Amino acid sequence: MVKITFKHTGKETTVEANEGETLLQVAERNNLPIIGGCGGACICGSCCVDIDPDHINLIHEADINEQDVLECLPMCKTTSRLACQIVITKSMDGMVVTIN
Ligand code: FES
Repeated sequence: MVKITFKHTGKETTVEANEGETLLQVAERNNLPIIGGCGGACICGSCCVDIDPDHINLIHEADINEQDVLECLPMCKTTSRLACQIVITKSMDGMVVTIN
């Protein structure tokens, strides 16, 4: 199991994630306040999260489709990613993610 901590609305919630599922699926399964407006199709940008700067290197780079969506988001930072595009791996154990 991989533990992921989500920061949201002034709280922190640590949950268990399975390798191979997406960060969006992990958040939704745990009833965290994240919106997957397009169902994970990398279109809407509503699932944008900020990865803790210490952990951003644990994640594969955004592909061109994800980069295109991120560039359209006004709140996008260098540590912003789309939760629907991040596939959980063992190396992400302990990662901290802020839900926008
Ligand atoms: S759910 Fe729409 S881009 Fe992630």
